[in-house]
Amino acid sequence: MKWGIFSSALFLLLLLACEKKPIPLGDYPGAQIFNGIVRADVRCYRCHGDIGQGSSRAPALVTNGKTIPRDLFIKTVLNGRDRMPPFESVLSEKDISEIITWLEAVAVLPK
Ligand code: HEC
Repeated sequence: MKWGIFSSALFLLLLLACEKKPIPLGDYPGAQIFNGIVRADVRCYRCHGDIGQGSSRAPALVTNGKTIPRDLFIKTVLNGRDRMPPFESVLSEKDISEIITWLEAVAVLPK
């Protein structure tokens, strides 16, 4: 009987130890780029909100846990569109991919 309790406790401990810990959202490279921490001249948050939730200046960047298609997202950021400025001279496609990865994580992780 005692052994039963002990082994269930051990099993629970093991489960807890194996549970994947989410990376804190602020540690994603994409979060740092988006919020002007990596490059002072890239400040997406000023128009799109600090987690891409949108504001009166610009639309939300995630709906139902998804961004717009990756190719279109990258193209829009590189070239700009309407009141959105182009970032071709400061961001690489990899930087923009990091932003997409982070935005999709923001949308699914508990805050
Ligand atoms: C000066 C304000 C401003 C800044 C800074 C800005 N955006 Fe935008 N963004 C906009 C506006 C306005 C639109 C909507 C453009 C349109 O209506 O065609 C937009 C559109 C977008 C879209 C397309 C959204 C869609 O649903 O089609 C993406 C993706 C995007 N922005 C990402 C970014 C990222 C990433 C950054 C930082 C590198 C950034 N934006 C910085 C104003 C801004």
